Amino acid sequence: MLNILFAARPVRWTTYEAPLRAALAKAGLTAHLATDIAPGEVDYIVYAPNSSVQDFTPYTRCKAVLNLWAGVEDVVDNPTLTQPLARMVDHGLTQGMVEWVAGHALRHHLGMDLHIHGQDGEWRDYAPPLAQHRRITVLGLGELGTACASALKSLGFDVTGWSRSPKDVPGIRCLHGAAGLTKALTGADGLVLLLPATPATDNLMNAGRLALLAPGAFILNPGRGPLVDDAALLAALDSGQIGHATLDVFRAEPLPLTDPYWAHPNVTVTPHIASETRPGTASEVIVENIRRGEAGLPFLHLVDRLKGY
Ligand SMILES: NC(=O)c1ccc[n+]([C@@H]2O[C@H](COP(=O)([O-])OP(=O)(O)OC[C@H]3O[C@@H](n4cnc5c(N)ncnc54)[C@H](OP(=O)(O)O)[C@@H]3O)[C@@H](O)[C@H]2O)c1
Repeated sequence: MLNILFAARPVRWTTYEAPLRAALAKAGLTAHLATDIAPGEVDYIVYAPNSSVQDFTPYTRCKAVLNLWAGVEDVVDNPTLTQPLARMVDHGLTQGMVEWVAGHALRHHLGMDLHIHGQDGEWRDYAPPLAQHRRITVLGLGELGTACASALKSLGFDVTGWSRSPKDVPGIRCLHGAAGLTKALTGADGLVLLLPATPATDNLMNAGRLALLAPGAFILNPGRGPLVDDAALLAALDSGQIGHATLDVFRAEPLPLTDPYWAHPNVTVTPHIASETRPGTASEVIVENIRRGEAGLPFLHLVDRLKGY
C-alpha cells in the first residue's frame, strides 16, 4: 500500500482531503492518505513548509516531498531533506496571479484612485495614455512571471522581462543577467516582482535600482518581501521617485501594525493573497507527480537545491 502523508496546517486538510482522494482515484492509484503515518512507512509527503514536519531524517522510505507552495525558501535549505523536492506549479495559482497583476497594473495605469477617491465636483478631464505607451518590466520569467508578462502584453503594455537565463517569450523583450537588469529597469513606468527569495535576489530592489525606474513609477510585489530594500522603497516613495507600491508580501507576515507601509499614503498592502494554490487543480499536479514516481518517470517541477528555487 502506498502511504501518503499530508503535512500542512490542519485547516488545509479540510480543503485538500477530498480533492486529493478524487485525484488519486482518477489516476487509478490506491493509497493510504492521512495526516498521521509512522515516518518510516511514508512514501510521499504532501508538504507545506509551515507544517510540524521539519526533520525529514525519519522518513527513510520517502520518495519525494511535494510542496503545496510555489515558494520553497522555507524548506530548500533544510539539511535533513535529502529526498527530491518538487514545488507547486498549478494552473489555478498562475491564473490567480495573472488576475492580481493585471488588475493592479490597470489600476495604476488608468489612475483609477483619482476618480474613486476624488468625487469632489471637480471635472478632471485628463485621459491616461494607451497601455502601449507604458513600459512595464517583469522581474522573473518563470511560471508566474511569463504568464503575467504575456497577459500585460495582451492588454497592450510595452513589456520587458528579466530572468537568470536567456528566454524567448513572444511579444516580450527578454533580458537576463546583470547588464540585462539595468536595461530592464531603466525608464520602466511599472515594475512587477515575480522572483523567488534566494540569497541572490535579497534586497535586489535597492536605492540604486529604484532610481533607474521612470519618476513616479509603480511597483507591484507579489513575489517575496526580501526582494525589496524596505528603507530604500520608503525613501523613494517619500521623494516621489516611486509613485505607488502595491505590496502583497513582506519580510514579516502578517505585516506588524507598526510597519510604516500600513500608514503610507502611496502604499497598498494586500495580505499575501495575490494568488493561492487551488486545491482542485493543485491536487491533480501532486497526484501526477506521485503517479510519475510510481511509474519510474522523472518528477515534474523539481527544485534546484543549489539555485534555491
Ligand atoms: N504572493 C503570492 O500569493 C505568491 C503565490 C505564488 C508564488 N509567489 C512567489 O512567486 C515566485 C515566482 O514563482 P514562479 O512559479 O514563477 O517561479 P519560477 O517558475 O521558479 O520562476 C522564477 C523566475 O525567477 C528567475 N530568477 C530566479 N533567480 C534569479 C536571479 N538571481 N536573477 C535573475 N532571475 C532569477 C528565474 O530565472 P530562470 O528562468 O533563468 O531560472 C525564473 O525566471 C515564487 O518563488 C514565490 O516566491 C507568490
